[in-house]
Amino acid sequence: MPLITLRDLAVSFDGVPALRGIDLEVRRGEAVALVGESGCGKSVTWLAALGLLPSAKARVTGSVCLDGQELLGAAPAVLDRVRGGRVAMIFQDPASSLNPVHRIGRQIVEALRLHRGLDGTAAREEARRLLDQVGMPDARRRLDAYAHELSGGQNQRVMIAMALAGQPELLVADEPTTALDVTIQAQILELLGEIRRDTGMALVLISHDLGVVGETCDRVCVMYAGRIVEEVSSRRLFDGPAHPYAVGLLGALPPMQGARRPLLAIPGGVPDPAAMPPGCAFGPRCARHVGACDDAVPLLATVEPGHRAACFRPVPARGAPAGSMAATVADRDRPADRGMSRIAGQPAGHSTLSHSGVGRSVAEPSTTGHVVRRPLGYALGHHEAWA
Ligand SMILES: Nc1ncnc2c1ncn2[C@@H]1O[C@H](COP(=O)(O)OP(=O)(O)O)[C@@H](O)[C@H]1O
Ligand code: SF4
Ligand SMILES: [Mg+2]
Repeated sequence: MPLITLRDLAVSFDGVPALRGIDLEVRRGEAVALVGESGCGKSVTWLAALGLLPSAKARVTGSVCLDGQELLGAAPAVLDRVRGGRVAMIFQDPASSLNPVHRIGRQIVEALRLHRGLDGTAAREEARRLLDQVGMPDARRRLDAYAHELSGGQNQRVMIAMALAGQPELLVADEPTTALDVTIQAQILELLGEIRRDTGMALVLISHDLGVVGETCDRVCVMYAGRIVEEVSSRRLFDGPAHPYAVGLLGALPPMQGARRPLLAIPGGVPDPAAMPPGCAFGPRCARHVGACDDAVPLLATVEPGHRAACFRPVPARGAPAGSMAATVADRDRPADRGMSRIAGQPAGHSTLSHSGVGRSVAEPSTTGHVVRRPLGYALGHHEAWA
């Protein structure tokens, strides 16, 4: 049985639908990414699932089942036990989630008291152990620090320590590295991976950056305009996305190896939830659009085992036999022909590295026992896409 199951989860704000039916399962120990441009509903999905949206403004329907227990409409006492306990959430800007007038040790101790019933010396000792676990240098002394005395990366480590205080089975990390510089981003992602390996905790990583998720997650759900439009293993996504939107997101990543190519931008922007186009919401931006795409909303359907896309004309897998219809279509779909526009002012063959994934690297032990750094893009294997 999955740890958590979201079924037809929908959210409207003041009558305007923002989330349009999310179906998602996360298994124990699994790492799942939610990716997509800003405003496509990634945060709202999990804020709704955990009962964190303002009830006067947001209408939430559907079902969120944690290990057999329905969370939508559950009593506040039930939700209080779940949040920060079995399910923890961390956000993009750690400093704004920490209380500036309390020492961080006190804040971690408070989480330990609430969720594990620890107090006094035992709680303080556990808080120190958690800070150690998240790689905080000089953890004992840092217990007495205030958030403003720590760097952004250190504050994010404190947030992760607070999240771990409740020994969560699932951590939802909402853009946890977006506010950090690239070397610290890589360290935090590595830390999340280590914690997952050590504790068996499941992870939902929310990001607008495909480069961030491929290294960390087993499975990727690409979101667009309040829906999941592609669901696939990370490896398969980078080898052969099926939804034209996912193709566009990958085209915007700089190649780390092979021939240089211009970065490609998806024309236009995410539609306003109050003025959705008819049929497929991606239609106005899609080079594969045909008239029939405006007639109905495409639903997630299997394109190959373990790979689903919500598109009437999914991009065929590469490697289709030469001369076949699939190969012809795949050929025509190379990014230069897809109506994706070059990043403005960037000459062909020159990489203007405007993407946040650029230069990111991950530490990896070499065969000689040293730690070497390699670009994330290399690790993801997306370098060969259309090079
Ligand atoms: N509290 C709110 N009130 C009204 N609209 C909201 C609120 N929170 C989010 N939205 C809208 O819901 C949509 C999805 O937002 P969000 O989930 O935050 O996107 P993202 O994918 O960037 O995390 C956006 O159109 C956003 O404007
Ligand atoms: S359904 Fe049509 S418009 Fe929508 S993504 Fe697929 S091809 Fe493009
Ligand atoms: Mg968000």
